[in-house]
Amino acid sequence: MMRDKTVLLGVTGSIAAYKAVDLASKLTQAGAKVDVVMTDSAKEFVTPLSFSSITHCRTVTNMFDTPDEWEIEHVALAERADVVIIAPATANVIAKLASGIADDMLTCCVLATRAPVILAPAMNVNMWENRVTQENLAKLRARGFKIVEPGTGSLACGAQGKGRLADIEDILTAISQALRAKADLAGRRVVVSAGGTQEPIDPVRYVGNRSSGKMGFAMAEAARDRGAEVTLITGPTTLGDPAGMRVVRVQTALEMRDAVKQAAQKADILIMAAAPADFRPATVARSKIKKESTRGLTLKLVPNPDIISEVKGDIVKVGFAAESEDLVKNATAKLKRKSLHLIVANNITEAHSGFGTDTNKVTLIDSQGKVEALPLLPKSEVAQKVLDKVVSLLNASRKNPDKPRRRK
Ligand code: CTP
Repeated sequence: MMRDKTVLLGVTGSIAAYKAVDLASKLTQAGAKVDVVMTDSAKEFVTPLSFSSITHCRTVTNMFDTPDEWEIEHVALAERADVVIIAPATANVIAKLASGIADDMLTCCVLATRAPVILAPAMNVNMWENRVTQENLAKLRARGFKIVEPGTGSLACGAQGKGRLADIEDILTAISQALRAKADLAGRRVVVSAGGTQEPIDPVRYVGNRSSGKMGFAMAEAARDRGAEVTLITGPTTLGDPAGMRVVRVQTALEMRDAVKQAAQKADILIMAAAPADFRPATVARSKIKKESTRGLTLKLVPNPDIISEVKGDIVKVGFAAESEDLVKNATAKLKRKSLHLIVANNITEAHSGFGTDTNKVTLIDSQGKVEALPLLPKSEVAQKVLDKVVSLLNASRKNPDKPRRRK
């Protein structure tokens, strides 16, 4: 996996910098070429010589060092990297990257690279939990950076809590995953819906549901990372626009239907991770309903159209099924009723699964009746598994003309 790959290892000023020497060593042993870029503060903790002795390459520290060969060095380093890993990544470098600051060799390289960037943060627990750090990380995640979460335990500063550099093995796994990242959806158009919808009662109130949008956003990001051209159609959510895709924001199920149907016309794959409201108020009051004007309020609801059922044609349709009982039976019935190729069923009563969580435990059921129960996984990994299955359906369709084909 690592052989003949170039890894740009960025080291920043944390006590955990010494652990990066072990990381450089393991990467080199695995056959990777490792370019090490250190910040000035990193040099206070460990010397460039420690890295050079292991990687047999010059360790770059200064923006204005004379390069070995004449080239603009930060651009050359950024271009030849297959993956960039910053370990340890301090709160400071995270903040700089979140704002696009490029005032040293490492931050210049990150700004100039097109390779995937992984951050392995290490810092004091209060710095980690500080809102600004978490906001910066959320920004970077939305831009496609991968974060290897720090571990919990006793920290160098004496405090207990989250903030220790992740295990080197976990960092190596993240690097391998990034290098393995498939471009198997290159040239495919993928439409993903996410979040719940809001069905207005009056200008102030609405009927809604608890969908957070996280699963749909993870699906869209995973499809983007695998090379797809993605349109994300989302109901109201607190999540920011992910980079590298078209994002359409809608409020109601009817608006979502229009946006999905239009985008689906030119798409190869539709993934309906959204929870469009099944019903909407039959009438919407033009002005705010005053509580004095009524002794109670009876809402008449009318059904919304089923969006995924209305999408027809040469397209792979993936639905989600939120069930609280008889998971496989109910989800299979939904798959048939809505003529889907794949349904991702989750039991919303399970712990750490379903609405608002970062993890999900799902069962994949395809139109041939094949059932695959997955363990509890981060939503980003669930998304990858769903796409693995979608790709295998698309590949099967090449052999079987009855199945959907790629749109020309
Ligand atoms: N769906 C849709 N349009 C709707 C409702 C749901 O396209 N108006 C899609 C969802 O995005 C999901 C799938 O249908 O991919 C199943 O949604 P779910 O809420 O589990 O099922 P429902 O059909 O609404 O059935 P029920 O609520 O009775 O379980």
